[in-house]
Amino acid sequence: MEHISQRVQSLAQSATLAMSQKSAELKAQGADMINLSIGEPDFNTPEHIKEAAKRAIDENYTYYSPVPGFMPLRRAISQKLKTENGVDYAPEQIVVSGGAKQSLCNVILSCINPGDEVIIPVPAWVSYVEMVKLAEGKSVLVPAAIDQDFKITPEQLRAAITERTRMLLLCSPSNPTGSVYSKAELQALVDVLKDYPQIIVMADEIYEHINFTGSFTSMASFPEIADRTVLINGVSKAYAMTGWRIGFCAAPLWLAKATNKLQGQYTSGASSIAQKAAEAAYTGSQQCVEDMRQAFERRRDLIVDLASKVPGWKVNKPQGAFYLFPDVSHYIGKTLRGKKIENDGDFAMYLLENAHVATVAGSAFCMPGYIRLSYATSDENIRKAFDRIQKALAD
Ligand SMILES: Cc1ncc(COP(=O)(O)O)c(C=O)c1O
Repeated sequence: MEHISQRVQSLAQSATLAMSQKSAELKAQGADMINLSIGEPDFNTPEHIKEAAKRAIDENYTYYSPVPGFMPLRRAISQKLKTENGVDYAPEQIVVSGGAKQSLCNVILSCINPGDEVIIPVPAWVSYVEMVKLAEGKSVLVPAAIDQDFKITPEQLRAAITERTRMLLLCSPSNPTGSVYSKAELQALVDVLKDYPQIIVMADEIYEHINFTGSFTSMASFPEIADRTVLINGVSKAYAMTGWRIGFCAAPLWLAKATNKLQGQYTSGASSIAQKAAEAAYTGSQQCVEDMRQAFERRRDLIVDLASKVPGWKVNKPQGAFYLFPDVSHYIGKTLRGKKIENDGDFAMYLLENAHVATVAGSAFCMPGYIRLSYATSDENIRKAFDRIQKALAD
């Protein structure tokens, strides 16, 4: 007899499942699919990082690693935070784990009690709400649509705070919108947060380096909230290392200790070999990061140009990450090639079936009426995708 816990039953099934099944079906029938639904850089991991991993194997970094990570890696992260972000986290305050995803979940499970509220600006990355559910907390969603560049205002933040608020989860540059909060915009949020010392601020800065504004302000750099700010980051996006599974949290010592305790009972230290590769990423030349950033910026310009020409789409100019999040609500309620488009899921499915372009429905990010397109793919694929989208929407 199947017996699945209520905890797992309460989790949402991956929103992209139906889309990927359909996509696989069409591919099996011979269709030339273009995948704009992917959340990872399309570059190979830089050579010097791969070499470090090979060396690690030869040098027998094949045993269990310390639960919070090897000290040289934690020192390298502490140094990176100091020099790149101007923030102070001692190596003891850093816990390395199997990806930023695990770090986020570690922190949520370590400080959220049943009923505690977590403020999440939406659209937001798919997993935040599910992680809060795992901790039996309550997500308080604060909507910020395209007309406010997908960024919440200080007034919205203040209105969302209650006695039960325990955490604010902020992602900048953002998945799924690419929006980047400026220093002044963050300061305005900090001015609200400083009145509520019980709120932990968790800043997901995983897209830090894929930023086209020319400057990045870390949430931990504001002295008013620095002692209760947790940074989440990792090597996945900046160094094209999604499969290596290394991320970290940098947290107040009490919280770092708590996540260390949780991780010690759950997964132990992250892969020893991948940690040595991550150390090489942080301590080696940063030119590879800049090269990839420039490629993404060029593609951002291309996709914004092409998407702005699609009739009925409302598009902004994302300042970071590698996503575009157009408002496609114009098409909702319309009939395309005999198919009634009831919602953004139907629209994404329509593009999949008629343009052979895979995207993700905005509802997956708690913002119906939109779709997410990833431009972590070649210029040629982006151009071809938009030719087909234009054709599919023309009749
Ligand atoms: C906003 C955001 N945070 C965290 C992650 C997870 O990153 P990692 O691969 O390090 O687990 C992702 C990955 O897609 C992401 O988009």
